[in-house]
Amino acid sequence: MRLTAIITLLGSFAVASRAAAKSAPPTLFPYETDLLTSDDVGNFSDIAPASDRRACIPKTECRAFPGSADWPKDAEWEQLNVALGGGALLEPVPAAAACYPGTYQNATACTTVVNNQFLTRQYFDDPLAISTQWPAGNACPAVAQPTGDCRQGGYPVYVVNATSVKQIQIAVNFARNKNLRLVVKNTGHDFVGRSTGAGALSIWTHHLKGPGFELLHDYVHGQYRGKAAHVAVGLEAWEVHAAMAKYNVALVAPSFATVGLLGGYMQGGGHSALVSYHGLASDQVLSLNVVTADGSFVTADPDTNSDLFFALRGGGGGTYGIVTSAVVKAHPFLEVTTAAIALSSLDVGIEPFWRAMSAYFAFGHVIADAGGIDRNYVSPLNNNTVFNFTTSFEFPNMTAAAVAALLLPLDAAFKAAGVNVTFPAPATSLWSAEVIGEGAPVRDERFASRLIPRAVWDDPAKFKMSMEAFRKVVEGGYQIHGTMMSPSLKVAGWPGKDSAANPAFRSAVMHCVVYDFVKGTPATAAADLAGRARLSQYVDYIRAATPGSGSYMNEADVIEPNWQQSFFGSNYKKLEGIKKKYDAWGLFWAPSTVGSERWAVRTAGGVPTQDGKLCRTLEK
Ligand SMILES: Cc1cc2nc3c(=O)[nH]c(=O)nc-3n(C[C@H](O)[C@H](O)[C@H](O)COP(=O)(O)OP(=O)(O)OC[C@H]3O[C@@H](n4cnc5c(N)ncnc54)[C@H](O)[C@@H]3O)c2cc1C
Ligand SMILES: *[C@@H]1O[C@H](CO)[C@@H](O)[C@H](O)[C@H]1NC(C)=O
Ligand SMILES: *[C@@H]1O[C@H](CO)[C@@H](O)[C@H](O)[C@H]1NC(C)=O
Ligand SMILES: *[C@@H]1O[C@H](CO)[C@@H](O)[C@H](O)[C@H]1NC(C)=O
Ligand SMILES: *[C@@H]1O[C@H](CO)[C@@H](O)[C@H](O)[C@H]1NC(C)=O
Ligand SMILES: *[C@@H]1O[C@H](CO)[C@@H](O)[C@H](O)[C@H]1NC(C)=O
Ligand SMILES: *[C@@H]1O[C@H](CO)[C@@H](O)[C@H](O)[C@H]1NC(C)=O
Ligand SMILES: *[C@@H]1O[C@H](CO)[C@@H](O)[C@H](O)[C@H]1NC(C)=O
Repeated sequence: MRLTAIITLLGSFAVASRAAAKSAPPTLFPYETDLLTSDDVGNFSDIAPASDRRACIPKTECRAFPGSADWPKDAEWEQLNVALGGGALLEPVPAAAACYPGTYQNATACTTVVNNQFLTRQYFDDPLAISTQWPAGNACPAVAQPTGDCRQGGYPVYVVNATSVKQIQIAVNFARNKNLRLVVKNTGHDFVGRSTGAGALSIWTHHLKGPGFELLHDYVHGQYRGKAAHVAVGLEAWEVHAAMAKYNVALVAPSFATVGLLGGYMQGGGHSALVSYHGLASDQVLSLNVVTADGSFVTADPDTNSDLFFALRGGGGGTYGIVTSAVVKAHPFLEVTTAAIALSSLDVGIEPFWRAMSAYFAFGHVIADAGGIDRNYVSPLNNNTVFNFTTSFEFPNMTAAAVAALLLPLDAAFKAAGVNVTFPAPATSLWSAEVIGEGAPVRDERFASRLIPRAVWDDPAKFKMSMEAFRKVVEGGYQIHGTMMSPSLKVAGWPGKDSAANPAFRSAVMHCVVYDFVKGTPATAAADLAGRARLSQYVDYIRAATPGSGSYMNEADVIEPNWQQSFFGSNYKKLEGIKKKYDAWGLFWAPSTVGSERWAVRTAGGVPTQDGKLCRTLEK
């Protein structure tokens, strides 16, 4: 009795103290107030939510696939379409089907698709389109004179063009109850095929846009008090930048126009020119609205579903639930100052070029510690006999004069290495205005990456080993694309530091991408796999120089060795527990995401695409 009283007292105390720290109830957009009710479900039990998070699903070997006995009948798909409100269930064919003989052939439409592959505004309004082509298995290349067939391949079969949370709940429940493969797509920018999948039902969050931005003038939660913004998940960088300009605030948002803010970008970490100044995109989030695998719509914040809140900030997209909107920090408006330099071995000779590269990389921590970034490229040309270097520096909230002064020692280091580099005057612009390009061209490259830790700058032996590794990689025909950045725990602040973002980010000074110049899909699976293995062997030189570090999952190799450690580090075990708690069904699946080991895509020749059935691996 007395014990009960104490517990009650402690309980009410805890509630009271939480209430004091908490601000408003969940911030919702109109599309988040239209929720699934039991009346909506009626007698259509296939769209009913799961009553128990641990409820079992049939242990079939594979997810249902068109042609398999458990694939829903046409009438069931029609019933789903009606439940969704009609018109939201799409059964799209790849846009390039217009170029191939058959039902969809249309010369005008084909010309448009072929010519507009690089005008992605149209491309990203396509329900199936993904910007990196190979994960779909080269299913329907957009070429004017095709030789092969147009297949659905690694593209989903059905797509729910979601405009309400209710539709997402219905689609999640239907996929779970019918043992379907589920895919979640926002913009389709993912590099390794995490937003596509053969035989899948896809939930497309791209149109959850409006009215998609609300400025909250005084948002109080825990240790945060200040401006914040409620942002819809469908907003792309260019739309977020427009809102920043309108409201005179600075949000951490992708630098690239068509990348979405709150889908895979934020959920995997998300870097931008503000990364060394305000931290990762995942560090900005104060509250999230999410549809979970059981079909519930919940809020995740530091007090409510705090484990889910932890996981969704950096623990990987498409894994724990479908985010519909978030409250993120809105910082005071600021300017960024940029400067660019270039160098070629053609002009200075090979050995001085590499000496200059060492001088440049040695300066990396100065850039990151000043709150800036830079994006460098060291490229092999002429059959790996000529090497070109370019970089562009970006410093938030620094004047042109301060940037010029900061870069003086680098100029001196170049001279000491025996090369002259021209430093043009830095230029200053508004961060809110900064959006690069109209959209991403359709891509087909592969690459791997590594977060280069501060230990490399602290230890001359490690630095030397890293420089030798970079040189071997470039001489081997790959491009180094580095970004000096330091999203430390200090800049992450509260609540960012308690998040699932890869711990390797916190000690990183550089994010190093190693590009393979391969284009298109190699003729055979063996050639494809051999090419991937060669890239990975070269990246091993860098991995060896950076023991214990990791790789940024959003810009990484789909065959990254030991990816659990590499992408998630010491958070992996905890994230596995959260995944099991919220998604015991393994409904949300994408390659190299938490818990994905339990399933694998069966492809021809074992290539790591999404063009095959999703089947169970041996349970661990
Ligand atoms: C041109 C280009 C530029 C880039 N620039 C940067 C950059 O500057 N900085 C950086 O950090 N990264 C950058 N990226 C990488 C980018 O972060 C990833 O491609 C990221 O996966 C994109 O997320 P998305 O939601 O827009 O894409 P999608 O491909 O639609 O989704 C990616 C992943 O997130 C999941 N997902 C999508 N929507 C949701 C949702 N609503 N809820 C839950 N999960 C969801 C998907 O299932 C998938 O697993 C760039 C990519 C490209 C192609
Ligand atoms: C389910 O309900 C609908 C009306 O909502 C009705 O038309 C239909 O016959 C019912 N089906 C079954 C199997 O009860
Ligand atoms: C062919 O495509 C064009 C452009 O997309 C469209 O306007 C036209 O209606 C299509 N023709 C047929 C026969 O579908
Ligand atoms: C998806 O829905 C939006 C909003 O209703 C609509 O504008 C768009 O045309 C739809 N897209 C497709 C491919 O049906
Ligand atoms: C910019 O830096 C100054 C100090 O140099 C600081 O007072 C100011 O708050 C900073 N502005 C932003 C937007 O961070
Ligand atoms: C490499 O640098 C040289 C010298 O500056 C330049 O002329 C050339 O265009 C560059 N090549 C590429 C592919 O950028
Ligand atoms: C490229 O260099 C390699 C090794 O130096 C050589 O074997 C090969 O013939 C060269 N290729 C071309 C196209 O010059
Ligand atoms: C670099 O520039 C200085 C001054 O312009 C000049 O004296 C020197 O010879 C140059 N060095 C090289 C290697 O070009």
